[in-house]
Amino acid sequence: MKIYPSMLSANFCCLGEELRELNDADGIHWDVMDGHFVDKITFGADIIAAHREITSLPFDVHLMIDNPEKHIRTFAEAGADIITVHVESTNHIHKVLQDIKSFGKKSCIAINPGTSTDFLKYIDQDLLDSVLIMTVNPGQKGQRFLMSQIAKITKVQSLFIGDIGVDGGVSDETISNCEGISYAIAGSYIFDNDDYSEAIENLKLRNRLKSVFNP
Ligand code: DX5
Ligand code: ZN
Repeated sequence: MKIYPSMLSANFCCLGEELRELNDADGIHWDVMDGHFVDKITFGADIIAAHREITSLPFDVHLMIDNPEKHIRTFAEAGADIITVHVESTNHIHKVLQDIKSFGKKSCIAINPGTSTDFLKYIDQDLLDSVLIMTVNPGQKGQRFLMSQIAKITKVQSLFIGDIGVDGGVSDETISNCEGISYAIAGSYIFDNDDYSEAIENLKLRNRLKSVFNP
């Protein structure tokens, strides 16, 4: 299982230094918020581009913005390796996936807690690399993990053969509930720890232990 720290919980006055402390991560998750799709406004493509040369880890750009179709090129050119869009944020999810693939990037669809997975039946699977199950309502760090979303992991597995991730409220305790996922996004749990590498390793260990004891 891979761990992607979410920069939303990093110290915003020194993002570059924070990135250098994340060598043991499998990728970096950037939460882009526009004040419309979610209330908060965070960072845009220029901030992400400014940090592209600091690490060779893949950048996963999580777009919590309305009309993401207008911005795919910008984030692709800013250095995103994976572009994650919300199925709720656009009327043209299939077109957005085509756009992401046309830039040679990996595509991911994020699903809000209240959203059904039915749309996956109608998505061309060649266009979709991963599905991100939101285990909190998007828009804020440090929220409580929603146990109601655990059943969605199995549901997505039955409809989709690619990578499945979870985002929100991930900790050494809650990750034990996430059997069958290939990656997890974690913000507060990692950045609240003095040693980011230790926190990442701990999350992986806790997930592995669960699999060993419940084969
Ligand atoms: C929530 C974001 C998450 C968030 C996770 O809207 O998509 O990526 O940063 O933060 P924690 O791990 O603190 O819930
Ligand atoms: Zn996120």
